[in-house]
Amino acid sequence: MNTEETKYVISKCVCYDTTFLEMKKIMKTNDLKNLDELRKIKEVGTNCRLCVPYIEKMIRTGQTVFHEIIG
Ligand code: FES
Repeated sequence: MNTEETKYVISKCVCYDTTFLEMKKIMKTNDLKNLDELRKIKEVGTNCRLCVPYIEKMIRTGQTVFHEIIG
């Protein structure tokens, strides 16, 4: 892991204390396709919304830990 990768570790919706990995598991278990469907089961990404781009990328790519700022 290089310096850039250790600088940021973004792995959850802080406001609702829910990791992207937990969200991914919920989505897989319930065959959910998007954030709107996920929110019907688990409240995430509706407070500060800073996690939303990460949740959307997790849904697209399966990645659950991020080392860069995306907005
Ligand atoms: S970090 Fe997810 S709503 Fe604030």
